[in-house]
Amino acid sequence: MIKVVTIVGARPQFIKAVPVSRALREAGHTEFILHTGQHYDYGMSQVFFDELSLPSPDFNLNVRSGSHGQQTGQMLIGIEEVLQAEKPDWVVVFGDTNSTLAGALAAVKLHIPLAHVEAGLRSYNREMPEEHNRVITDHCADMLFCPTKTAVENLANEGLKNGVHLVGDPMYDAVLMFSEKAKQYSTILHDLGLKMGGYLLATIHRAYNTDEPDTLKAIFSVLTSIDEPVVFPIHPRTRQKLQDSGLLTHAATQGNLQLIDPVSYLDMLILEQNARLILTDSGGVQKEAYFFAVPCLTLRRETEWVETVQSGWNILVGIEPERILAGLRHDFPSKYQQPALFGNGQSAYTISNILGEVS
Ligand code: UD1
Ligand code: UDP
Repeated sequence: MIKVVTIVGARPQFIKAVPVSRALREAGHTEFILHTGQHYDYGMSQVFFDELSLPSPDFNLNVRSGSHGQQTGQMLIGIEEVLQAEKPDWVVVFGDTNSTLAGALAAVKLHIPLAHVEAGLRSYNREMPEEHNRVITDHCADMLFCPTKTAVENLANEGLKNGVHLVGDPMYDAVLMFSEKAKQYSTILHDLGLKMGGYLLATIHRAYNTDEPDTLKAIFSVLTSIDEPVVFPIHPRTRQKLQDSGLLTHAATQGNLQLIDPVSYLDMLILEQNARLILTDSGGVQKEAYFFAVPCLTLRRETEWVETVQSGWNILVGIEPERILAGLRHDFPSKYQQPALFGNGQSAYTISNILGEVS
């Protein structure tokens, strides 16, 4: 049996950690959860522990928001202390946030084996903080768990072959774990007065889409011009940036746009599954659109999830209004053309088995 320290901090990491934590514990391994505190609002953090039964963190560093250096540096100091005290067999990190990078650096400097879940993703856009986080993390990792074949190829192109495993995507595991429960318990469509297939769902939070007021303004003027209901669970970063640039009131009151607070995972699954189409710059939401066979417009120039685009279900529209509006009328594939590109929903068990075997 092995001892693992799982490092989480941002919203998508709580969701990815749920199936992996369950698989580790079912196998009898010992897991400690370290929350860096990168996300801290109830709706960005605790709601996922409560709703998805993710065990409470054993450690919470409460680092909260700050510049990249400040946030990552404080995490590094706190994670190092925990790892020195706990001496785990493995550190497990997820995705590409500053919490991922801090966990990777802390582990590699202490010579503790590091496993990276969602390894090998690349946008090839070095301006994204996520891109350097994931490149550095992959090059620190001893075990690289890839969700897609493209991810395996990306790593091979960088000379990374040892410890690389194609396991599928834990976000797909999570969708399978919780879809039924979401149908049973979520009342979000009723609460928001939405009809199945009768609205669009939007989420935007990437730094390059939110930090420049002109970009933010361009995105929200398209969203407020759409002639269909658009539901937008708004990330705190985006809310803050809208407020700072004096655009919040306009965004909240114009057109058919309905700004709501971030929703729980179960509510999000229902909103995604029943949307006519999704507009997003989120990595996780692009994939979930695919899992539910809901057409997706990605407001970015590139994506790490190239399979969703190649299969015809996702279009990279950037932020040009004409492309976004044309995308809304695009003829997407039929619901039945859905190759299983992200594994079989058992990726977390594969990860747990591999970690257990090599230790
Ligand atoms: C982070 C990740 C990003 C990921 C996203 C998931 C990095 C560099 N970025 O971006 O890759 O896609 O999480 O959602 O790690 N804030 C709150 N309350 C919170 C959390 C954040 O108000 O609970 C606000 C603060 O104003 C903060 C801002 O959001 O300054 C940005 O938060 P931060 O964690 O730095 O980055 P995200 O944009 O959330
Ligand atoms: N999500 C959620 N509530 C919301 C918005 C998103 O539960 O209001 C979930 C979503 O279903 C997905 C994950 O959060 O599982 C995506 O996180 P986010 O978009 O913040 O980050 P990214 O995936 O881009 O890193």
